[in-house]
Amino acid sequence: MTRILITGALGQIGTEISALLIEKYGKKNVIISDMREPSKNGISENCRKLDVTDGAVLEKVVNEEGITDIFHLAAILSATGERNPELAYMVNSVGTFNILKVSVKTGINKVIIPSSIAVYGPSSPKKDTPVISVTRPDSIYGITKVDNELLSSYFRKKFGLDVRGIRFPGLLSYKTLPTAGTTDYAVDMIMKASLGEDYTCYLSPDRTLPMMYMPDALEALMKLYNADKSRLRYSTEYNISAFAFSPKQLENELKRIFPGFKVSYVPDYRDEIASGWPESLDCSDAVKDWDFKPRFSLHEMVDDMSRNFRLLNTKH
Ligand SMILES: NC(=O)c1ccc[n+]([C@@H]2O[C@H](COP(=O)([O-])OP(=O)(O)OC[C@H]3O[C@@H](n4cnc5c(N)ncnc54)[C@H](O)[C@@H]3O)[C@@H](O)[C@H]2O)c1
Repeated sequence: MTRILITGALGQIGTEISALLIEKYGKKNVIISDMREPSKNGISENCRKLDVTDGAVLEKVVNEEGITDIFHLAAILSATGERNPELAYMVNSVGTFNILKVSVKTGINKVIIPSSIAVYGPSSPKKDTPVISVTRPDSIYGITKVDNELLSSYFRKKFGLDVRGIRFPGLLSYKTLPTAGTTDYAVDMIMKASLGEDYTCYLSPDRTLPMMYMPDALEALMKLYNADKSRLRYSTEYNISAFAFSPKQLENELKRIFPGFKVSYVPDYRDEIASGWPESLDCSDAVKDWDFKPRFSLHEMVDDMSRNFRLLNTKH
């Protein structure tokens, strides 16, 4: 029987993937955990407060709950990481090492660990960046993500642990708002436009970045989770994205629906972080190995998100 532990389950991806996994495997078999107290709000019958930097408690939870698979989503993202590098190192690097170590020790079947386009840096190619490329980031978040990728490959090779993951681009969702990343501006901009407000953007107008809509990201994660192991050439390094756009392009997309929308640009330290990231990714390995295929175009994503933000606003 499959028993899944989700770490960082209260975050942007965790909240949404929890619902999908519960739908598929049942409330009893999905254990929601986070550093913050997960409330028993009907999402899952099993909620645990779990700090991934504490390897002993992690091992205890895995044993007590009879866990077979782990979705490790606990992390400190780029903007928060840059403000607190030690915390980013502890949660992302030490926390992930604990997950890998405990997984081997307890015989876990499959571990999912998302990576990020933040593994790339100023010396990486900017356009159609391939999986195997220069990965020398200069943000602490990126450094810990490279460390996670290398550790995952190491555990895969040395201990035969089945570790899988995706280098996510910026993810857009109207359901759980992001709070700590560099690409969060895109969600904020769509929300402000939908609510009839102006927006001040912290990235430069021409800072192009790869992105995708959350439903496509969740589908990709489930596809990789269920993929045939023998087809997978990589561990957590798969590149995926659906489209790429700059803040100015997103502004123009939104003006199509909201002609009076106004954006001003005041770039801050997050523009510096994003300046080292690729503008677009080569996703052909994900297509070849596990049939990655996003559904939403930029146009469709903007239409769907703005419609949902407006609906949410009229309900409140
Ligand atoms: N959201 C994106 O756009 C994006 C893009 C690229 C990669 N990713 C990756 O996807 C994964 C999930 O990201 P997210 O957007 O859901 O992040 P998030 O910041 O929304 O959520 C992370 C969760 O981890 C929890 N957490 C923090 N420290 C913890 C600890 N010590 N122990 C247990 N839980 C802890 C937080 O409380 C939070 O609920 C991360 O690995 C991230 O690097 C996300």
